[in-house]
Amino acid sequence: MTSMGGIQENEDEKLILSLPKEKPWAQPYDLYLFQNFWCPGIHIQAVNRFQKYFEAVKDSDVVVASFPKSGTIWIKALTFSIANHHRFSPLENHPLLTTNPHELVPFLEFSFGGNIQDQILHLSNMTEPRIFGTHTPFTSLPKSIKESNCKLVYICRDPFDNFVSAWNYFNKVKPMSLPALTMEEAFEKYCNGIMDYGPWWSHMLGYWNESIANPNKVLFLKYEDLKEDTNFHVKRIAEFLGCPFTQKEESSGVIQSIIKLCSFENMKDLEVNKSGKIGRGGIEKKDFFRKGEKGDWVNYFTPSMQEKLSAIVEEKLSGSGLSFKKCS
Ligand code: A3P
Repeated sequence: MTSMGGIQENEDEKLILSLPKEKPWAQPYDLYLFQNFWCPGIHIQAVNRFQKYFEAVKDSDVVVASFPKSGTIWIKALTFSIANHHRFSPLENHPLLTTNPHELVPFLEFSFGGNIQDQILHLSNMTEPRIFGTHTPFTSLPKSIKESNCKLVYICRDPFDNFVSAWNYFNKVKPMSLPALTMEEAFEKYCNGIMDYGPWWSHMLGYWNESIANPNKVLFLKYEDLKEDTNFHVKRIAEFLGCPFTQKEESSGVIQSIIKLCSFENMKDLEVNKSGKIGRGGIEKKDFFRKGEKGDWVNYFTPSMQEKLSAIVEEKLSGSGLSFKKCS
């Protein structure tokens, strides 16, 4: 690191020390209330730098945004396949057959953890259209992303299933040395909005409101809708990104092949997603795939949990126009 880097690191440390703090979901980092969202301590520096230094946004860039455990890996795979359907056939030698979606579609904020110049150079060398991921709430995205013509594809999930997925995931990826988080402890945190990049309601509403104000900029998707009619939404994403499928492509089955390639069953069984680790935290790739279903919450929720979360969903989303079928 240069002396510039040293100054920056001191400032990052000072910033972290000044923030309100909460215990995480069985992870070895605290959560800090940074710009009104619960940012994992290990990501604050990178999120902060991403906001400051991610300037060279291209109009052809696509940012896939999500609240954690909403189907990020699925929408990354779909968006990559759709945006590149003229370059790669879903039937042969497709990059998704040999590379995990988190590697093909890197998280922007995590890309700013190391040497800033190197990271910017690496991002600028990516083949266009560049497709990035982010968990950062809309309000905290860099101005460059908000003000350019790049597109944002957002996915959210019914909070009931989102909670179940998160509880299973955080306990699975926790270090052996830490005790598991009970469902009651996790539920209490979830109801209070305390989870990485939460509160979930403000995360969803930030992108929801922007998708209404600016529908050509933000495409707002729900995991459940995507499950119910993947074909319809794949076409919608392609049109939104300005690369619609031709009649010929449709009738030759390109859309169906993309859906199959990105399906839970296919992705989970690919060798590249079954072994090996990813990211700074060294997360096992297989841990990104659990059940891939909607409605699994019924196997976990007690009647009182159901009542409590329904009331919170109702209260937090009321008047926004955003709703989830079961809760409305
Ligand atoms: P479950 O835990 O309910 O199974 P994220 O990618 O944001 O971390 O979300 C993880 C959730 O998406 C997990 O949900 C995971 O199983 C599910 N998932 C992963 N790949 C999927 C796919 N191709 N299709 C549908 N769901 C998928």
